[in-house]
Amino acid sequence: MRKLIAGIVFFMSIAGISQAEVATDDYVTYRQSVFNLMGWHFKQMGAMIQGRTDYDATEFKQRAEAVAALAQMPAEGFIPETRDTQLPHHVKPEVWYQTERFDELMQGLVVSTTELAKQAGAEDKDDLRAAFGKVARQCKSCHDRYRERM
Ligand code: HEC
Repeated sequence: MRKLIAGIVFFMSIAGISQAEVATDDYVTYRQSVFNLMGWHFKQMGAMIQGRTDYDATEFKQRAEAVAALAQMPAEGFIPETRDTQLPHHVKPEVWYQTERFDELMQGLVVSTTELAKQAGAEDKDDLRAAFGKVARQCKSCHDRYRERM
């Protein structure tokens, strides 16, 4: 009897998981949220690099680590089913047929943000300029190709 109940509970939990299937639009919201968080941290890192705010090595490193972690996340939100979403978005249609190039750029972002996070913590912010610039160029080159003007 106990075995039977355990079996039913197990079955229900499996069924529960499939019922809670993620809606297509949630993928859109998810990837935009990730980009917004990434943008938040990256912008403040940029202000420090450019001297618009005081450079704080610890804060810069924390933000660089956040960006590196976030860089791994948006890819999951680009499922082909989101192509026809009615939600406002800025994805150019090329994303859906130039997937190899798009994935490459996404992977490039992971590599360059990881490198920046590794170098972050440097006492002199000028030592971070090159690594920061590399990441910034990657944001831009993907946006130029695959993001509509916002
Ligand atoms: C591989 C391509 C790619 C890279 C690299 C990339 N982005 Fe984006 N980004 C996109 C696309 C595509 C969108 C539009 C997403 C949508 O509308 O669903 C976007 C949207 C955004 C948005 C707006 C989010 C919203 O609410 O619509 C911000 C902010 C952003 N990116 C920041 C960044 C920053 C900062 C970097 C670099 C650290 C970066 N992105 C790197 C492709 C990229």
